[in-house]
Amino acid sequence: MPESRFDIGIIGAGTMGGNLALNIADHGFSVAVYDADPDRVSEFAQKYGRSGKIMAVGLLAEMVDMLRRPRAVLALVPAGKPVDDVIESLIPRFEQGDLIIDGGNSHFRDTDRRAALLAEKSMLFMGMGISGGESGARHGPSLMPGGSAEAYERIKAILESIAAHVNGDPCVAHLGSGSAGHYVKMVHNGIEYALMQLISETYDIMRRGLKIPPNRLADIYSEWNAGKLNSYLLEITAQIFRFKDPQDPRHVLVDMVLDKASQKGTGKWTSWEAMDRQVPTPNIDTALMMRNLSDRLAERAKASMRLLGPGNGLKESGDLLLRQLPDAYYAGMVMCYAQGLELLGEASRAYGYGLDLEVAARIWRGGCIIRSAILEDIRAAYGREPGLLNLLLDEELGIEVAKKQNALRAVVSAATELGLPAPGFSASLAYFDAYRSALLPVNLIQAQRDYFGHHTYERRDMPGKAFHTEWSEM
Ligand code: 6PG
Repeated sequence: MPESRFDIGIIGAGTMGGNLALNIADHGFSVAVYDADPDRVSEFAQKYGRSGKIMAVGLLAEMVDMLRRPRAVLALVPAGKPVDDVIESLIPRFEQGDLIIDGGNSHFRDTDRRAALLAEKSMLFMGMGISGGESGARHGPSLMPGGSAEAYERIKAILESIAAHVNGDPCVAHLGSGSAGHYVKMVHNGIEYALMQLISETYDIMRRGLKIPPNRLADIYSEWNAGKLNSYLLEITAQIFRFKDPQDPRHVLVDMVLDKASQKGTGKWTSWEAMDRQVPTPNIDTALMMRNLSDRLAERAKASMRLLGPGNGLKESGDLLLRQLPDAYYAGMVMCYAQGLELLGEASRAYGYGLDLEVAARIWRGGCIIRSAILEDIRAAYGREPGLLNLLLDEELGIEVAKKQNALRAVVSAATELGLPAPGFSASLAYFDAYRSALLPVNLIQAQRDYFGHHTYERRDMPGKAFHTEWSEM
């Protein structure tokens, strides 16, 4: 029987669990891996079990016995019931002070419930978002842990060594109490949806609108990626446009990919949460709407035969539009982050997370799917003003967006002229124009509400007092 010397246990030898185990072992820590699937265990043991730093076992009790006390186990199983099953199976084998970390994309309310359950048993629980996919897990992810600060201190050394690093800083930090970690990961994914939507719109405008071939698109995205727009999502986009179809190398594979975007739910949770917290996140909502609309393939095919677009083409030159696109994307990108981060700030106040937005921006600079050069400027903005409510109010980023608004307007106009859907760019522009409006036309909405529903309104000249008017009695 192996001695109790392993630093951490991992449950789930799938892609994420396996790669994280290797990453942990590479950094000198020992890791015991358990999986309920015996084939996975033997495959893993054969491949990686020789170093002495990793041991894979097929019995949960055996893995628990292998861990040094107080124990720490990282669960990498699908969100939902599998996480509850892991917790249920560990509780009888665990002692007071032992720690369970859920590294999946769990809903933050489940994380709160699980933390309360384990607290009753004097055990520790952390919800930790992990971003970066397979290669991130293996070579350096962005880690978003929340929950007990004591628990974080205990495994900090492991997390800091396996995380991605940017300018010497690890892309991990204790984000706050309770479900802060999973909340931050949820919003990360909402921003991910919003950025991907904007990139897909740039693709549509260039490919369908300007008839630019895929190899040139690859070059354009690479050029953008070499400057201020540098980001993981643009980097992979350029690579995608170079990737030939293995079935027929005369064209690129992406041309053969069905135009129907799926989702696992985290983007939808972000939109729901934003509605509940009353934080406007139009870019995230729009991205979700477009994934839903994309699903209606048959309807779209039918409508494409019946509902014809404008057919007049562009008023301005295509070259000009091509020069405006990256600036429009920059402005849109900042607004995607602005909306997500404002939601995080509001959630932190509502749920008492104690989240520092500068830290959130800092740990997103590397390892994760939304990593980008702009996050360095965003981090700096929160460094200048920790209580900053919205990035558009930052003296540097806000001005940059304002300077690029003409490009954004031109791109939205061009998409309209071409009859191409650009709801992400349109949402960014409308958000910008609404946010900078000291006056909005919702006085009319208040009057209408009061007219038909006696809902009352406030007067501009007497704030704080409710008025009702019998509007029909003129
Ligand atoms: C990450 C990704 C990861 C996953 C998303 C995809 O940060 O590494 O966000 O968590 O790829 O869940 O989400 P959808 O399937 O909803 O697009």
